[in-house]
Amino acid sequence: MTDMDRDELLPAVRSAIAAAPNAESAMKQAVRLLKDGVPDYTWVGIYVLDGEELVLGPFLGKPSPHTRIPLGRGICGAAATEKATIVVDDVNTDPRYLACSIETKSEIVVPIMQNGEVFGEIDIDSDRAGAFGQRDRALLEPIASLLAERLSEGG
Ligand code: SME
Repeated sequence: MTDMDRDELLPAVRSAIAAAPNAESAMKQAVRLLKDGVPDYTWVGIYVLDGEELVLGPFLGKPSPHTRIPLGRGICGAAATEKATIVVDDVNTDPRYLACSIETKSEIVVPIMQNGEVFGEIDIDSDRAGAFGQRDRALLEPIASLLAERLSEGG
């Protein structure tokens, strides 16, 4: 996609999240717009923190075997624990990686958090190695903040 298309994606997701009747709908719409908007985003999902586990919420792409991930496991668990975005250019070289699909080559995980409290995370896989960079952080971190506002409302 062109940079212009991507520039239009953040405002589109912002509007959809603001207009959504509840947090579940806001998450679903964000996942849909991201999946449709960026060809490199092969699998797009949101995990919601439930106690000490990340529970898979809305997603688009192949079904994942990892529907509940303990905080100590996977790249997902690491991002939630470290409270920081993690980009993995080649998942096959990362010992933390929990495989979702054999085709996956790279991954980005962006915590959904507000005032240091983690509510969940955006997890995106790509079939292309090294698919994620600064442009993806610049798109996904603001979206994670907007989702944190909705999830912190509790509905
Ligand atoms: N790869 C993730 C697990 C989730 S699947 O990619 C959907 C991880 O290592 O935590």
